[in-house]
Amino acid sequence: MGKELVKVGLVGAGTIGKGVVDLYRRNINLINNRIDFELSLEKVADRDQSRLQALGLDEKKLTTEAADVLDDPQIEVVIELIGGIEPARSFIARALENGKHVVTANKDMMAHHGWDLISLAREKNLNIFYEASVGGGIPLIRPLKHNLVADRVRRVLGIVNGTTNYIFTRMDRDDLSLEDALSEAQRLGFAEADPTNDVEGLDAAYKLVIMANLVFGKKAVFDQVHIEGIKGVTYEDISYAREIGYTIKLLAIGEELPEGLALRVHPALVPLEHPLASVRNELNAVFIECEAAKELMFYGPGAGPMPTAAAILSDVVEAGRCIRFNIANGVVERELQDTGFVPVGALEARFYLRFLVEDRAGVFASLANAFADEGVSLDMIIQKRRVGDLAEVVLVTHQVKEEAFHRALNKVTDISAIQPNPSIIRLLN
Ligand code: HSE
Repeated sequence: MGKELVKVGLVGAGTIGKGVVDLYRRNINLINNRIDFELSLEKVADRDQSRLQALGLDEKKLTTEAADVLDDPQIEVVIELIGGIEPARSFIARALENGKHVVTANKDMMAHHGWDLISLAREKNLNIFYEASVGGGIPLIRPLKHNLVADRVRRVLGIVNGTTNYIFTRMDRDDLSLEDALSEAQRLGFAEADPTNDVEGLDAAYKLVIMANLVFGKKAVFDQVHIEGIKGVTYEDISYAREIGYTIKLLAIGEELPEGLALRVHPALVPLEHPLASVRNELNAVFIECEAAKELMFYGPGAGPMPTAAAILSDVVEAGRCIRFNIANGVVERELQDTGFVPVGALEARFYLRFLVEDRAGVFASLANAFADEGVSLDMIIQKRRVGDLAEVVLVTHQVKEEAFHRALNKVTDISAIQPNPSIIRLLN
């Protein structure tokens, strides 16, 4: 008896869509030899004819109408790669209504509507697979979903944005300014022409919401993520951080506290001995702290057509297994619970600060007094070279409640001898 055929359709033939078709053509025999059913890519839809023509597929498989894939009764798995929220969300809902499993790499849509779509999928005894939505080619979603089902995750720390990691790496290694490092990232194709979502931390926040849903089994909400981008970090900060044994990374941090979930994305000083400090250039990593397995790190390329295509095709195989063996494959997604959220002000952190101050007697004392008045204890104080008539002061606090720190900071910035807009970066603790 021949192997059961699972027919697949693709909507979206952009960079990642083309990567999926390329990898499919290169490896479909290998894949089909490894599984006990047979995958067949039947149709690809894109509104842009030239993108379709570039795929090198048989004309009969190409269409400019998404409906030709979404409504084709023979297609059992739809890959959605158009990105953005609409019409991607409606397309996925329509594919599910039509009884198809869905594979997507769409992080913003999954962060905003993932749970509703997963619920719809479950009602229909179907599933949505989104391995490529976080960490590109890194096997991450499936290990979080399946391998950690018996464990309790305490905290997730992610370097999940390649653009910003590349920028910080170049600032650190080659003494570039943020602007020059960003231009380099764009020139080399690591950053998009409009890198706003990356630089402002939104892309990392989407990915954090997706991971938090999964590892905590709670309904993480995008609007509850505290988000700070990388714009405030200068070459000087990176250089001082290195001097005191740290490197700066944009971290996506999710933790489960007794009061609820604390979700944040911000630059952080990471100790050089922490495994995340070694994640450089455009690479991504997710460090998981859990009860039984202790510490795990998933590392690799977080973007790019080939790594992402490998993740997508592995999801297609998973969908095929669900069809072939009539399994739901849900695990933790089954019952996400409502949760409270802990605002960043209620958390504790250590802070790095860099100020410019007038270089005269008493300024340092007034700075130290302002912190002491709010009970903020200082761990490290460095006074550095003059910039004109100004001295540069770098401080690191001990662990402090964010609210107390900000009260002290308001007092400090009221001191006329201290220049406004200090650099403020949390330390990873
Ligand atoms: N623009 C993202 C990054 C890749 O720089 O990591 C896709 O999420």
